[in-house]
Amino acid sequence: MAKTDKKPAEKKPVEKKPAKAAAIDIGISASDRAAIAKGLNGLLADTFTLYLTTHNFHWNVTGPMFNTLHTMFMAQYTELWNAVDPIAERVRALGYPAIGSFADFAKASTLPDAPAQPPKAKEMIRTLVAGHEAVARTARALFPLVDEASDEPSADLLTQRLDVHEKAAWMLRSLLEE
Ligand SMILES: [Fe+2]
Repeated sequence: MAKTDKKPAEKKPVEKKPAKAAAIDIGISASDRAAIAKGLNGLLADTFTLYLTTHNFHWNVTGPMFNTLHTMFMAQYTELWNAVDPIAERVRALGYPAIGSFADFAKASTLPDAPAQPPKAKEMIRTLVAGHEAVARTARALFPLVDEASDEPSADLLTQRLDVHEKAAWMLRSLLEE
């Protein structure tokens, strides 16, 4: 084959315009959807943080209550793990990205990160009571907004989450009574 200096004509890349998403018209204004999505991302961050702390405590719990707590924490972290998905997907249905990185979760969460050193069993229980109460407060604070916007699916989700967190807080609190 003869050598040629001629470079093959460079193909101009076809400019692809980003696909424009269809406008969302579900009867909730864009500003309400944005505010609710932000609030739900906060709930997602709280829930994920509490999930991780609970799983951490499942691994690291020690002492005479080991069996009870190891098992109880497993039931609780499993429930929390399953809860993050519907929260994130509600954010998506409202037209916004769901957060999902440690950095974003840390920024948006109202709960502290899990302690660096595993605490004693009773301190673990107290930490989880405070965690469930904090998530309940985050969920409850969103109600005026979703009610105002007639966002029933979000209200339904928040109601379910409140029930779980208030019940878990009660059960954990009961373990602390003498
Ligand atoms: Fe396990």
